[in-house]
Amino acid sequence: MLYIASDHAGFPLKEELKKYLSGLGIGFEDLGASQLELGDDYPDFAAALAQKVSGKDENKGILICGTGQGMCLAANKFKGIRAALAHDEFTALAAIEHLNANILCLGARVTNPETAKKLMKIWLEAEFSGDERHKRRLEKIEKL
Ligand code: RB5
Repeated sequence: MLYIASDHAGFPLKEELKKYLSGLGIGFEDLGASQLELGDDYPDFAAALAQKVSGKDENKGILICGTGQGMCLAANKFKGIRAALAHDEFTALAAIEHLNANILCLGARVTNPETAKKLMKIWLEAEFSGDERHKRRLEKIEKL
């Protein structure tokens, strides 16, 4: 299952990405925010989504806040989470080909909606390269 979540800063972009996913025929579950709430906190949404992805290889997620950074920090506290921030096509592709990121983080205040759609599609469609060097590096991270 694909999960998506945002705080208030990412809320409008989340709603746009949901429409885009539906248009592509890709199913997803929205873990909030369910409405624009200026006082909400990104770690709450990062935790809700990371718990769905942690330990479940078949699941992945998209987290959106203002910068994408806070979501990334919070999600990476969870075991088995490889959350990566993407802001251009190269980082979106590397997030999956090199890092096998099971969570993509996007910053709604730095990435415009059209770019965000492109980055999300790249991340969804690409695959982990499986190269020995990338596996070795990810295993080292896992052991930290
Ligand atoms: C919320 O104002 C903002 O700090 C948050 O969305 C995010 O950008 C944090 O990294």
